[in-house]
Amino acid sequence: MNLETPALALAVLLTAAPLASAQAAKGDPATRASALLAQMTLEEKIGQLCQSFVFPGMQVDEPVAKGQLGSLLFVMNPAEANRFQRLAMEKTRLKIPLLFGFDVIHGFRTIFPAPLATAASWDPALAEKGQEIAAREAAAVGIRWSFAPMVDIARDPRWGRIVEGAGEDPYLGAAMARAQVRGFQGKDLGPERVITSVKHFAGYGAAEGGRDYDAVQIPDTQMWNVYLPPFEAAVKAGSTAVMAAYMDLNDVPATGNRWLLHDVLRGAWGFKGFVVSDADSVKSLESHGYARDAADAAVRALHAGVNMEMGFGGTAFGATLAASVKAGRVTEAQIDAAVRPILEAKYRLGLFENPYAYEAKVASVLGAAEHRAAARRAAERSAVLLRNEGSLLPLARGAAKKIAVLGTLADSKIDTVGSWVFDWQPADTVTVLAGLRQKAGAGVAVDYAPGVQVLRSSPSIFDLLRKEPRAAAWSEAQAKDELAKAVALAAGSDVAVLVLGEAQDMSGEYASRSTLALPPGQQELLEKVVATGKPVVLVLLNGRPLDISWAAQRVPAILEVWYPGSLGGEAVANLLFGDANPGGKLPLTWPLNVGQVPIYYARNLTQKTEEHAKRYWNEPHAPLYPFGYGLSYSTFAISNLKVDKASASVGSLQAGQPITVTADVENTSAVTGDEVVQLYVHQRAGSASRPIRELKGFERVSLAPREKKTVRFALGQDELRYWSGSERKWVLEAEAFDVWVGNSSAASLASSFTLTK
Ligand code: NOJ
Repeated sequence: MNLETPALALAVLLTAAPLASAQAAKGDPATRASALLAQMTLEEKIGQLCQSFVFPGMQVDEPVAKGQLGSLLFVMNPAEANRFQRLAMEKTRLKIPLLFGFDVIHGFRTIFPAPLATAASWDPALAEKGQEIAAREAAAVGIRWSFAPMVDIARDPRWGRIVEGAGEDPYLGAAMARAQVRGFQGKDLGPERVITSVKHFAGYGAAEGGRDYDAVQIPDTQMWNVYLPPFEAAVKAGSTAVMAAYMDLNDVPATGNRWLLHDVLRGAWGFKGFVVSDADSVKSLESHGYARDAADAAVRALHAGVNMEMGFGGTAFGATLAASVKAGRVTEAQIDAAVRPILEAKYRLGLFENPYAYEAKVASVLGAAEHRAAARRAAERSAVLLRNEGSLLPLARGAAKKIAVLGTLADSKIDTVGSWVFDWQPADTVTVLAGLRQKAGAGVAVDYAPGVQVLRSSPSIFDLLRKEPRAAAWSEAQAKDELAKAVALAAGSDVAVLVLGEAQDMSGEYASRSTLALPPGQQELLEKVVATGKPVVLVLLNGRPLDISWAAQRVPAILEVWYPGSLGGEAVANLLFGDANPGGKLPLTWPLNVGQVPIYYARNLTQKTEEHAKRYWNEPHAPLYPFGYGLSYSTFAISNLKVDKASASVGSLQAGQPITVTADVENTSAVTGDEVVQLYVHQRAGSASRPIRELKGFERVSLAPREKKTVRFALGQDELRYWSGSERKWVLEAEAFDVWVGNSSAASLASSFTLTK
């Protein structure tokens, strides 16, 4: 028995007899769930379908003790979780344990780089490891369910939640989705694992105007080819749960969308787990102008395929479903079908046997040295070097005796960890300034000036959980003075490290922006610091691409580190001094400015060839940096592209014999480094127009100086099929294909092959 105190052990032993009813059934989780279900009243069943937030000031003891809630979210304290669990295990008739869920998005105590950053590593194994550690820390405090991975494709960086996903591409997104599910759940959902709920199903990232929560219109071709693949990957990797999205999808709210939750999820993909709504998204079916009232909302959500309702202060399921069953609007069989996979998940997690967090163990798990080392490595591997003129980076040790570190973000812990972090500890967090000070060593002065304040968003509900007080706003005179001080510091230094970007709460939920400009005051600081003539390294902390078109012409070195997490500062210091070598690549197209968005590389060409196209009258339509782009301190050569057969039949691909593409990658420098070798394809003709390029393979390769490796990609049915807009089904067509291999979506090494009938 895994119990945290002898008193608790005794309490559980004393309740052993009634407990036996819930545990009596032996066998696999499905058998046990059915046996338990057979003993449950309608009210008890509905209780399992209800989940409640526990925010400061909210009272849920009574509904827990009455069996009216099957799951709680936002309980981070193990003693508090155990207290709630005791209510469920001791006061309710059938002693069904609560399932604690939480937004474990990029770490629990040890914060890993934001998901967009992790995607920039192009290293699924890294994402897997990070979520394995996040699961271990969360499970230690009793949280056995993560509301992750977030796999929404996002092609409009105004949308604040772009930071939570893997960017614009379905292939990279699917790889990251799979890896995260494996990391959280493991093979067997052991005691250090948590179940996942891939979210937000589906299409949330296509919000009109990038405005969070806004309705989306997505044609079925885009749904199948772009938005759904990462969800399918997560489901096929075994994600136990799926979270329905908030918004309307083609005028039908995702939470009430039977096509999504039933036809696609359970029908086409064979999903056997459970669907949770997003917060209050069942009740809000009414405000969408969809459901007539709460009862109608609950019936329609259940009918569409929602199993569990997540609610703030009450749920429509809890308030109305029993009456709807009595009125014949819902059958009890429907309720049973909704409850079964939830009970199964609780059995699979071992909650009936081990419902409690083992409090004595918590301290040794949270923030363990091994977790921190992994977070540092993840931050190093997630950074993307955007520019390095004259090889300013890595900074030559010994040459820079005076380093000026500028910008408030350099010294801000919350902005180092990023959005969607709650249990993080300021004391565990290393800022860029602290990292550089640790690293610089004797004889090197690292001086700091904030220069400009970062704007914070208006207060939100998450402020209740904020650990650092908001700084008071500077007066106009103070702002002028701080700016002058920062510029003077730069002028007197050997090198200026300027840390600019976005405050943590400018990204994430409820944090869309109508501009990609650097936040107020930052551009002025940048220009003044560059005007000193000192070498400038621009380090960017942000959750979306920003308009850095000025910097991209005039600042010699630009390193994108996103929100790098607890050990972000150490990672940045290692990268700037060359103890780590940047190898990340952009998981999105970096626009020149906001006027270009939405923008993505896998576009259809239409009408004119790329050379003759002039999409804008006033400026180029090419982005600032292409998808897949990123530099390194090493140099690489990619050569010898070979396609194993010039032609293959559609049938042979369907029979599992892929086309094999190989290329050599060589480190042509004297520095060990990583290159991400990427493969893109284009179908030249078909029943529908196809994008100019689509990523269909990648591998991050580490190479010692002069080392050469051959990378191998398989192009099979899954890579070459697509959902055709004219056939309205998946097709694999006998056509000619172009293939490119290189180190970004602008790869030029090309070949081709043909599929025959
Ligand atoms: C709303 C968000 O959309 C979702 O991503 C999150 O998991 C839930 N709230 C719970 O915090």
